[in-house]
Amino acid sequence: IRIVVLISGSGSNLQAIIDACQAQQINGHIAAVISNKADAYGLTRASNAGIETKVLSHKEFANRDDYDTALAQLIDSFSPDLVVLAGFMRILTPDLVQKFKGKMLNIHPSLLPKYQGLNTHQRAIDAKDAEHGASVHFVTEELDGGPVIVQARVTILADDTADTLAQRVHEQEHVIYPLVVKWFSEHRLTMEAEHAVLDNQVL
Ligand code: GRF
Repeated sequence: IRIVVLISGSGSNLQAIIDACQAQQINGHIAAVISNKADAYGLTRASNAGIETKVLSHKEFANRDDYDTALAQLIDSFSPDLVVLAGFMRILTPDLVQKFKGKMLNIHPSLLPKYQGLNTHQRAIDAKDAEHGASVHFVTEELDGGPVIVQARVTILADDTADTLAQRVHEQEHVIYPLVVKWFSEHRLTMEAEHAVLDNQVL
């Protein structure tokens, strides 16, 4: 399959997916990496792997609709089978989400439906939760709300700060995101009627 990855920052999840493609664990390749930020380190990771990169800055557009229309066109120009959001820090318009429904994934650093939005690690610590984690889900109109495919759980330690906790969650993200992309690439994973389905089983 052809994959397009959207990023805004470090791209460590992108790297995990690049590595899984190179190790042929994923049945496909990354056709392009698109960032809304020119200085995203993930762009360097992509170039180092010989992957085409594009920067589409939201600052050059008057509003979200115009940006997302241009973004949809840019994504489409690579004819992807799958669009992977990997730390893409923008809210998507319903039109864009609709266009890629069933073929767009996101990873969120919490055990959804807990802690949608930002600062998830600090919020989990403040709530004195025993565990925290990350979720890979299909993208739907509801922000961080689409059907969950896999979650990784991390125990919160007494002396954890948001940074130490984030680091352990990140390690787990790098395990579960390539795994989900692998399933999708093997045509084992679909979204049907707002449910994630793996090997014909509703998750
Ligand atoms: C991750 O924590 C991910 O869960 C969130 O954004 C972060 C991206 O990190 N959506 P990286 O750019 O992949 O290192």
